[in-house]
Amino acid sequence: MLTVLIWCFLVPMTAQSASCPLELIPKRVVERHGASLSVLCRPTTTSAEPDVIGWESPIGKWNLNMPDNKSVTWNVENFEDWTFEPFCFGTFSDNQCSVTLPITLYKTPDTVSISVQNHSGPLQEGRSYTLQCDVFNVAPVAALTVSWLWKGEMIQTQTYDDDLTKTPENVSSTWEITAFRNDSNDMITCLTILDPKQDGPSEQVNKSAAYQVIVHYAPKFTDEYDSVEVVTGGNVSFGCSAEGNPPPEVKCKYTVAINARETTRGRQHTVSITRATSANGGIYNCVATNTVGTATRQITLTITPLGHTTGVNYCLILVVIPVIIIIIASIAQKNVVG
Ligand SMILES: *[C@@H]1O[C@H](CO)[C@@H](O)[C@H](O)[C@H]1NC(C)=O
Ligand SMILES: *[C@@H]1O[C@H](CO)[C@@H](O)[C@H](O)[C@H]1NC(C)=O
Ligand SMILES: *[C@@H]1O[C@H](CO)[C@@H](O)[C@H](O)[C@H]1NC(C)=O
Ligand SMILES: *[C@@H]1O[C@H](CO)[C@@H](O)[C@H](O)[C@H]1NC(C)=O
Ligand SMILES: *[C@@H]1O[C@H](CO)[C@@H](O)[C@H](O)[C@H]1NC(C)=O
Ligand SMILES: *[C@@H]1O[C@H](CO)[C@@H](O)[C@H](O)[C@H]1NC(C)=O
Repeated sequence: MLTVLIWCFLVPMTAQSASCPLELIPKRVVERHGASLSVLCRPTTTSAEPDVIGWESPIGKWNLNMPDNKSVTWNVENFEDWTFEPFCFGTFSDNQCSVTLPITLYKTPDTVSISVQNHSGPLQEGRSYTLQCDVFNVAPVAALTVSWLWKGEMIQTQTYDDDLTKTPENVSSTWEITAFRNDSNDMITCLTILDPKQDGPSEQVNKSAAYQVIVHYAPKFTDEYDSVEVVTGGNVSFGCSAEGNPPPEVKCKYTVAINARETTRGRQHTVSITRATSANGGIYNCVATNTVGTATRQITLTITPLGHTTGVNYCLILVVIPVIIIIIASIAQKNVVG
């Protein structure tokens, strides 16, 4: 150890050079945070054997390797220092130099989660939202890729161009969406891939919990017609169903009558009139409401007297028949008088 201390004063940290005849095996370390490391330092040729060789590191232990004492191994258990890099030094007859060991420690994220910026709860149709994926405590970010998966397909990928930061960082990725009702129940996942060795097989994959898209939209009546006709005494029913999310509540306003009723079966809302009378005629105002909005629909119910379905026949009943009755009555009266 004494040699190391002396050597520290003799050789400044900057004394290392590319021509230093020492090699490290492995040349660089890429390991999980907290891993155990073992690195050998030895002369590159037997012709340039160092008088002194050793590691400069307050962390871990190093030993001269038997029997020749010309190579030296640095061992450390549970290595957790994000930024520390030791160096191996050698003194040669005409030269003193060192080689630094580059170390990259990596760590998979503590959490990966999806949220919607400035919003909670269901999305509203037609509006745009920014989904955010937060990745906590991951290192190094330069080796990280954050991807968005929608229905199993990768729709966006982001990388972080920060080669300098070796310590864990929090990063996020955002994705803009405009909500449509047909997106409802789709699953969105945020995927992180940490590939510190840039070699594929050692990559670390983490996933967020799936974010389920729920899109709310205002009610809309499903039937288009706005008038209904029925003969006196006939039965009639007309639909007043509306779709929407959440499912809307439908209410119809009309002249109250004992032969008229509203039924709701599932999403089918129906107004039924049995044995219609002229009192049932008029305007039926239906209103569908949910948390997003309201839709209204007006249906005009026309009651046509029995056996006649057109305006001309209606005229007949109202005008012609009374006239005939009056004529017959007056003839009968004349006959009685005469
Ligand atoms: C190597 O070093 C050890 C301990 O420092 C010493 O006991 C041993 O004699 C050395 N061997 C040679 C061949 O120099
Ligand atoms: C929305 O959220 C982002 C980040 O969470 C914030 O920077 C921004 O100020 C917010 N905008 C509004 C309108 O609240
Ligand atoms: C990451 O976020 C956590 C929780 O908000 C915080 O405690 C930590 O300091 C953040 N780390 C960095 C590097 O900003
Ligand atoms: C969903 O609806 C929107 C707008 O109506 C349309 O542009 C989009 O193609 C639809 N997507 C699917 C998967 O049907
Ligand atoms: C991330 O993935 C690694 C393996 O790839 C796993 O060991 C770790 O527990 C995962 N972390 C989270 C937060 O799921
Ligand atoms: C109308 O409905 C009532 C009660 O359901 C039934 O008794 C009657 O026969 C129906 N009339 C017609 C014309 O269908």
